[in-house]
Amino acid sequence: MTKSQKSFSKLNRYICAGLVLAVLAVPAVAASLKSIMGSMGDNTTSAKAVLANFDGKAAEQVLRRYAADAEAADAMFTNPGSAKEKDLHARFSKMAMIANTASQQAQDKASFRKAFAAVATECKSCHATYK
Ligand code: HEC
Repeated sequence: MTKSQKSFSKLNRYICAGLVLAVLAVPAVAASLKSIMGSMGDNTTSAKAVLANFDGKAAEQVLRRYAADAEAADAMFTNPGSAKEKDLHARFSKMAMIANTASQQAQDKASFRKAFAAVATECKSCHATYK
């Protein structure tokens, strides 16, 4: 190996290490809004299944997961800079509160349907503005 080949292979190693770090770092940052939204989307599939075939325990779980996801999203905007971030902070707080409260009151299909509609209204309203 010539000297320049050696330093090239050394450089390659640095680049590889850098790429590995970048790949590892991205998911950490990207426990992002997008991944939380993916979870909300999955949870909505569960919510529809509960509506089709009501189960009190499952209803509570769905609402708790909406609340947890909204709290996780809200935590990304605890230090809001822009007006948009402030608004997202307020919206996710509101959604977490709605889902949390509802999770304690979803004993029957009618109340779950109402809670789900209230949560879905928050999804739609925010998406209409920001998605
Ligand atoms: C306060 C605002 C807000 C609320 C509430 C909200 N979303 Fe979102 N949602 C967004 C934004 C902003 C994006 C775009 C994120 C991105 O692409 O980085 C998004 C994207 C999505 C996506 C696409 C994700 C992807 O992989 O591209 C889905 C699915 C989704 N939201 C589902 C939901 C569901 C279901 C709810 C309610 C249960 C909900 N969202 C509530 C703001 C919100």
